[in-house]
Amino acid sequence: MKKRKNIITIAIDSPAAAGAGTQAKKIANEYNLLYLDTGKIYRYIGKLKLDEKEKFSNKLVKKKIDKIKISDLSKKNLISDKVATSASLIAKNKSIRKIVKNFQFNCAYNPPKKFSGSILDGRDITSVIMKEATMKFYITANIKVRAKRRYLEFKKINKKISYKEVLKSLKNRDYLDKNRKYSPLKKTKDSILINTSKLSKKACFNKIKALIDKKLKLNGSI
Ligand code: C5P
Repeated sequence: MKKRKNIITIAIDSPAAAGAGTQAKKIANEYNLLYLDTGKIYRYIGKLKLDEKEKFSNKLVKKKIDKIKISDLSKKNLISDKVATSASLIAKNKSIRKIVKNFQFNCAYNPPKKFSGSILDGRDITSVIMKEATMKFYITANIKVRAKRRYLEFKKINKKISYKEVLKSLKNRDYLDKNRKYSPLKKTKDSILINTSKLSKKACFNKIKALIDKKLKLNGSI
């Protein structure tokens, strides 16, 4: 696979609803990076599983992923708790993870020339997909804070789900994602821990930006 040289690569892992996506988008904007929300790929496959039922197969997944574009991942029908849980279940599968690896590698190490680099967030980005990233972060928050944030997001878009249901679902996904055999969610030693429980979005971004600026200065990039 082709790898662009001298680009900024940022890897983020986090449990669901910890604020990683919000921060990743802000960082992408600030440093002109290609942003890939890798959870959306698993959600896309999770949705495919719900829609296709018995017709769902790894062959079908491969066929779809071979043709996928980042713009296919911004569909609103991927934002539901049912799809998220289905994503978490198919994400345990080693063959499925293998199918999506190339797409993620390509976004990470070979972003289009107009970008100065890439930023990916997910569950196995720091540990598997971007082991050699310029910088790695593990973003987390207290489970109740995360459930409240996700519940309010759902409420805003009129999704009918209670806080209790959201909390239960996040706990279930945390368990599945952290305890699976292949590519479990974990904080790697070289990742910087950011706990967003008591931080505003802005305060969190300022903290991350200061760390990135320091690293880029050391590397002689700015
Ligand atoms: O990030 P998001 O909550 O959209 O991810 C949905 C699910 O996709 C996660 O709960 C996880 O099981 C799976 N996932 C994964 N590896 C990634 C990103 C997401 O297994 N890199």
